[in-house]
Amino acid sequence: FRALRRVMGEQESTGGPHFVGKKDELIEAKRSFRTLDGRDVLIIYHEGVFHAMDSYCYHAGGMLQNGDIEEIDGKMCIVCPRHKYKISLAKGECLYKGTDPREKPPVPRWYSKGVKQRIHAVIETNGDVYVRLSEETKWIESDYYQGEKGKEERAKA
Ligand code: FES
Repeated sequence: FRALRRVMGEQESTGGPHFVGKKDELIEAKRSFRTLDGRDVLIIYHEGVFHAMDSYCYHAGGMLQNGDIEEIDGKMCIVCPRHKYKISLAKGECLYKGTDPREKPPVPRWYSKGVKQRIHAVIETNGDVYVRLSEETKWIESDYYQGEKGKEERAKA
């Protein structure tokens, strides 16, 4: 037999955008935390743009809400307060500085580890702001800290 697999979690939701607040309030707050369909999401307002991402850092569950924002290699990034990983606001890529030993002399550059943090869409209409949770079906590392095991681990840290 092929076991029937139940689709759990966010896929059970209707998938529609969630109202997260008035634009003015979110601008003033700069960082806002919301739980949408059981997912903990951070909404950031920075230099005229809203962003939304999973609120716990994919690396070890750090609270991104308390991170500084810096421009790195032309990309706005939140710097996790725990171990200073840099995560781009637009794509959720983790950026790191490295050198290519084949280069003579090696020059440090920024590289991407790929998308590690789940990013959600922000929609503004008539002064209201909505977040549509990401529908990307492949596993993204920050998913771990949204699940039961990850939440327990974070609570112990
Ligand atoms: Fe974010 Fe380690 S928990 S860098």
